[in-house]
Amino acid sequence: MKEALIIVLAYLLGSIPTSVWVSRYFFDIDIREYGSGNAGATNTFRVLGSKWGTFVMIVDMLKGLLAVKLVYLLPYIIENDFARTNLQIGLGLAAVLGHIFPIWADFRGGKGVATLFGLVLGVSPWSSLCCVGVFLLVLYLTRFVSLSSILASIAFPIFILVIFNVDNHAYRIFAVAVALMVILTHQKNISRILKGSESKVPILKYRDR
Ligand code: G3P
Repeated sequence: MKEALIIVLAYLLGSIPTSVWVSRYFFDIDIREYGSGNAGATNTFRVLGSKWGTFVMIVDMLKGLLAVKLVYLLPYIIENDFARTNLQIGLGLAAVLGHIFPIWADFRGGKGVATLFGLVLGVSPWSSLCCVGVFLLVLYLTRFVSLSSILASIAFPIFILVIFNVDNHAYRIFAVAVALMVILTHQKNISRILKGSESKVPILKYRDR
């Protein structure tokens, strides 16, 4: 019962629509009507500039990180490694679902990447750092944030299953699910990349409004 309650709490935390609220309260616009139409950090960079993009990225990431830390509200679970990790996955996924389908913003949220990163950072920091490495490398080579997110998420189960050889079955399934989830949320980006119309990120040329 307590587990279910903190999972709901994690969903509500993930539902905080950072980019939507920033755009609404500071710029009097809805970020979902501009740029790619996505309620996420990348589109905030694109539409509102690097300062707000960074802010949204950090808050969205913290939602995933804090969600997995909610496990510490249940001290009887913490000592059991498997039970703790499994509940942390549940909490993190609830936050990611909240980010994608936020109750506070008509269930139209972002693609979940920053919140997923916070989740993975909280559960297995080393693999999250490896994924950041893949993300930055692809970003450097292609300037597509979306492709970088997709390839970093595909690299994640490879790190978990092959390199770190994690033996928690639930975590292995979760790692594969992350890759599938990111591919699913990036379908429009994939079709734009294939058509050659996906916007590239001139990272050093962002203008702050
Ligand atoms: O995490 C979202 C990013 O990968 C793509 O965002 O705005 O280019 O669709 P966007």
